[in-house]
Amino acid sequence: MNETLPHAGTDGPAVGRPIDRVDGPAKTTGAAVFAAEVPYPNLAYATLVPATVSRGRITAIDSAAATAVPGVITVLTHENAPDLKPPQPFSPFNFATFAPGTQVNYLKTDEIFWDGQPVALVVAETLEAAREAAALVQVTYEELPAAVDFAVEEGNAKPQKANMVLPSSAKKGDAEAAFAASPVKVDLRFTNPPHNHNAIEPHATTAVWEGDRLTVHDSTQGIDWLRTHLALRFDIPPANVRVRSTFVGGGFGGKSVVWAGTILTALAARAIDRPVRMMLTREAVYHTVGARAASTQRVALGADNNGKLTSLIHTTVSRTGRVGGLPEGLTSPSRHLYATPTMLLQQNLVEMDLIPPAPMRTPSEGIGSFALESAVDELAYRVGMDPIQFRMLNEPETNPVDGKAFSRRLLREAYELGAEMFDWRERTPEPGSMRDGRWLVGMGVATAFHPAQQMAANVTVRLSVDGGVLVRCAFQEMGVGAATVQAQIAADALGVPFDSVRVEYGDSDLPSSAAAIGSVQTATVAGSLLAGCDKLKKRLRGLARRYGTTGQAFTETLARAGLPSVEVAIGSDTRVGKMTGQVKFFTRFLRDQRRWMKAAYGAHFCEVRVDRDTGEVRVARWTGVFDFGRVINTKTATSQLRGGIIAGIGMAMGEETLVDPRNGRIMNPSLAEYHLPVQADIPQIDIACLDEPDPTMPMGLIGIGEVGPTGVAAAIANAVHHATGKRIHDLPITLDKLL
Ligand code: MOS
Repeated sequence: MNETLPHAGTDGPAVGRPIDRVDGPAKTTGAAVFAAEVPYPNLAYATLVPATVSRGRITAIDSAAATAVPGVITVLTHENAPDLKPPQPFSPFNFATFAPGTQVNYLKTDEIFWDGQPVALVVAETLEAAREAAALVQVTYEELPAAVDFAVEEGNAKPQKANMVLPSSAKKGDAEAAFAASPVKVDLRFTNPPHNHNAIEPHATTAVWEGDRLTVHDSTQGIDWLRTHLALRFDIPPANVRVRSTFVGGGFGGKSVVWAGTILTALAARAIDRPVRMMLTREAVYHTVGARAASTQRVALGADNNGKLTSLIHTTVSRTGRVGGLPEGLTSPSRHLYATPTMLLQQNLVEMDLIPPAPMRTPSEGIGSFALESAVDELAYRVGMDPIQFRMLNEPETNPVDGKAFSRRLLREAYELGAEMFDWRERTPEPGSMRDGRWLVGMGVATAFHPAQQMAANVTVRLSVDGGVLVRCAFQEMGVGAATVQAQIAADALGVPFDSVRVEYGDSDLPSSAAAIGSVQTATVAGSLLAGCDKLKKRLRGLARRYGTTGQAFTETLARAGLPSVEVAIGSDTRVGKMTGQVKFFTRFLRDQRRWMKAAYGAHFCEVRVDRDTGEVRVARWTGVFDFGRVINTKTATSQLRGGIIAGIGMAMGEETLVDPRNGRIMNPSLAEYHLPVQADIPQIDIACLDEPDPTMPMGLIGIGEVGPTGVAAAIANAVHHATGKRIHDLPITLDKLL
């Protein structure tokens, strides 16, 4: 089934310890096999041919020269591609419809919806032949006028449709009137450019057909979605699709839904009846994988003379694609962070002829927090208050948008501890007042926030007579330590040593789990795993009574009973089982939604240094204090939060996808021209976790996948303002904006 992984650790309670990742040795020694490395005999290699117009129709396609390249097996186009069913249209009530990244039926249409859409696929004996041939495919287009310039199109935005999982507006009192009457106010406009995914492992698929059974090894964040979706597209039962994804080299949302590369690799394998592999080039990731869209945000805040908020207005404009795309909830932080008597939130969207946007490194709060937390800093400055003091004065007792109770909220404590760790008291409030030689020194803070959810997962837990515990669940491991923390949870729940627990994951033949998105995975799997461990213990106690052993002597009980092992299951993957699971999930989801506001919180503290002559900004120091319930593994948790902060620094300081406003083509689709932070850009990052269990979540834990990057760009912008007196409203914060 799955690789058996060695487990490190010592005896004693496992939860809370900094246990090394169980997959660490396999990865550091090269033994870990990724989707593009699985060996198959007779393997062929595929390469995509991208459209070179943003909107139009293919009038002719000539693959003669490409087919003539030695080693080329076939060139698939809309004229000869095998059957492929279209994706289902999006519905918030059917999770399977979240799976497709776009609504395009790739290679089954002559219509073009964005520059870079795959128009052909070359399959060859070698990667080199496929690449050479791909460049020789001649495509002629009838080009149509395309909406590709966000600066022009944002004026055409319409109110975003809300759904059960993504609200798009909120209203409390008359926020505009309260704003107009406020003695102190700010009314600011913020922008961010588009961003692109750059996981260390580009999207990769190896696809193999045996009759009408399909196996794909894929770098996916959502094994079950991918399996169901492939079954639908290739018109076979889900049971005929096996998705294997033992290791994923980073996802960040880019691998959460299904993109052209995966579907077309499976299509090619069917066309030539051989195993086919495709690993996207960096450029092809930009072409075929959606990411963060550009947006414009207005935040208008009013306060009384004592610094109490009177009005909060947050309106946003972003885009989708003509063929789909999940919009962000940019006003999300404004719903939850500040006590305010009046509130007006509205998200707006415009459809454009660009690749549909998709989740990327904390959609919603990642960018929404930049606008809100920058505006709050500016308002504190105008009121004449310390920004932390201002936040604490406006800290709500209940959830601002709807008055729901917080399940737990230790933001105050986070700021208190962070201020201590960071020596915030050393800061002199006046902008430009702190210097170190040629450097202007600035210190800024901002709040981190991400709502918590829990989806549904099926698991089995087995105890063997030799004392070994086996946990099976088809969750995804993107490098964050998912298998490690679940082994810790199982070990403590059963009272067995960490070393005795083995976790199988990453394979659709295992009990199904939710996609690793929205910071839900750890709590989702833990919820079912804890239920499984309880069920197992109950079974063992029953056996113990019957065979006269004590409740904790598990292995002795099994030996006396003559059983090699006992296994229990939570949930089931039969048709009825899956439906029951979905109903159970919705019931709990709705009940939870009504009762609690649950989230991860944090306080970011940042010091920047700005060169007074060149405007160069260096992030010099960072402290992040987080409140995310119980800490399962201090090493993997702090590592993930550090990574999140680094992602936020990238967004704040350098990342920017440049779209040619004339033709919608991405001008910098490579790591040479798209500026991610490197080691030299990253300072010491100190992380502290408050470790206070959330009473409403499994084991008291809240997911931490996405809270790290929220607030980071604002903390930097606020520190830059403190250093220079200049407030940067437009990301990224590059030196030209400071001169
Ligand atoms: Mo995420 S950005 O929900 O993988």
